[in-house]
Amino acid sequence: MCGITAYTGKGRALPFLIQGLEKLEYRGYDSAGITLVSNGELVTVKTKGALAALKEKLAQYDLDQHAGIGHTRWATHGVPSNLNSHPHTNLSNTISIVHNGIIENYQSIKEGLGMQGYTLASQTDSEVIVHLLDYYYEGDMKAVLRKVMSYLEGSYALCVVSVDEPDTIYAAKKESPMILGMDDTASFCASDIPALISYTKDMITLEDGQMAVLKPGHVSVYDGQGREVEPKFIHIPYDLEAAQKNGYDTFMEKEMHEQPYVIRETLRGRVEDRIIMPELDGIDLHAFDHVYFLACGTAYHAALYAQYLGREWMDIPITCVPASEFRYGNYPVNDRTFCVFVSQSGETADTLAALKMCLKAGAATLTLTNVLDSSLARLADITLYTCAGPEIAVASTKAYTTQLVMLAAMMVKLAYNSGYEVKDLDQFIADLKEIPNAVEAMLDRKNTMAEYARLLADQRDAYFIGRQLDYVNVLEGALKLKEISYVHADAYYAGELKHGPIALIEEGTVVIALATQKEVAAKTISNIEETIARGAEVILIKAPGIHSDKIERQIDLVPVHPYLTGILVAVLLQLFAFYTAKEKGCNVDQPRNLAKSVTVE
Ligand code: M6R
Repeated sequence: MCGITAYTGKGRALPFLIQGLEKLEYRGYDSAGITLVSNGELVTVKTKGALAALKEKLAQYDLDQHAGIGHTRWATHGVPSNLNSHPHTNLSNTISIVHNGIIENYQSIKEGLGMQGYTLASQTDSEVIVHLLDYYYEGDMKAVLRKVMSYLEGSYALCVVSVDEPDTIYAAKKESPMILGMDDTASFCASDIPALISYTKDMITLEDGQMAVLKPGHVSVYDGQGREVEPKFIHIPYDLEAAQKNGYDTFMEKEMHEQPYVIRETLRGRVEDRIIMPELDGIDLHAFDHVYFLACGTAYHAALYAQYLGREWMDIPITCVPASEFRYGNYPVNDRTFCVFVSQSGETADTLAALKMCLKAGAATLTLTNVLDSSLARLADITLYTCAGPEIAVASTKAYTTQLVMLAAMMVKLAYNSGYEVKDLDQFIADLKEIPNAVEAMLDRKNTMAEYARLLADQRDAYFIGRQLDYVNVLEGALKLKEISYVHADAYYAGELKHGPIALIEEGTVVIALATQKEVAAKTISNIEETIARGAEVILIKAPGIHSDKIERQIDLVPVHPYLTGILVAVLLQLFAFYTAKEKGCNVDQPRNLAKSVTVE
């Protein structure tokens, strides 16, 4: 996830570009850059680091050009560095581009360009775009951009400037956002509404496959065949502050709603009719005596999910331990141990310490993280990245569900490499590809979850119960509720209730129960009935086809493979925690006593 801005008009371009990048910094902040264009010359200034570093660098220049493009980066391919920063220019410095998205086929394009004598300066997927434009350009940028779009696989929002048309910006979009606007003297575009809202409230949303040509005060939109089409205008009824959260009141709400998109981005190029993870090629878990999954908090719950899949699919010893415990426990680690570290930030102190211990003991290590070039990513032998984009709210939502889908794909790949047959594999992969749509359907149940959350209005406690895989899901549901609403929440194995915790159930106690695993659903439902008999108010989340007449509040998941239900449950329980916290007037984005990245022990 990156942010892009562009301006052409009678005024100076730079102030627009910078204010836009400031509003988009939530989309990425590991490097930033701009290209300004004036007669015969492109001036590109870019740097590693946050936007402040770019502003400092720009202070040395006197830049009064009237057209330009800007970028703030969230690295996906290539570490944050000056060279990998956008914009990217062709060798003759006549064309410059900024890109947001992932070009899946960049390797093959790069090879093709290499054969034509092009050498790429960066490690990014994006740079191929500018060289392709250069290669095919014969004076008609609109035509060449359309041609290049037809070669690009993956997702992109693109802006292009060239010295031949100093007052023109070309923009194109597929699956990454692009919003355009204009006033009497200028036209502009950006990745998101906040970058434009101080300039106009009437905006054009570019659709997939469309291209736009921006001239001062005028925007033309073209379809994939190059035919001019009527632009689709939207009116933004809210102000700047609301716009930064995309119209949502809080980052958590915004991030929950980004899940279909970021899950799709995480699966992109990884899950086709088989799993594509070249990083894991050649890894046969039989080469190891033991596999550990190590993580903290929500990431630990994601790791528990991977452990569950591993134990279902393989007969290899797999153990999941909170990193904070592992580092002080006597766990055998040596050069026949494979250790997997899961962390959104890639900086969590306990997880990092556990990784260092494992490296010292000679273990093979793999990190799954959301932050490129983070400490865990740098140290591990292998790194897999989720594509959740920056997560600002302390409560992890989109980072967790992207971890789950990546771990699901990873465990299939490891089982395959190690010679195990995964039962119902085709169905599992087909459903994994459909997960973004299923998550969308769960988000549509927000009113129901808001209504159920009212049950906790006067309660201090809640109990989450489930069996087998559902136990992992209740752990995460309880954590989410605790951390943002301050309701004391406990997660129990449903079958363990009768061994003690049932003593806590009384009239009005709220119990959130999961029954998504057919083999054990009837047992869980018996346990639920035992709580109802003692006065509990139960909310049951279940897979379709599982029946219980006695439970008043029931919510069905959309049908998915039983090992993927946790992703959908997570979304419902995020909504439940969110609405409980709102109901109680809590600060959902910055809950008390917590920090987004726990870099201390
Ligand atoms: O950045 P990490 O994934 O390593 O962070 C681990 C935990 O601190 C984190 O998941 C925490 O539990 C979340 N705030 C939960 O929502």
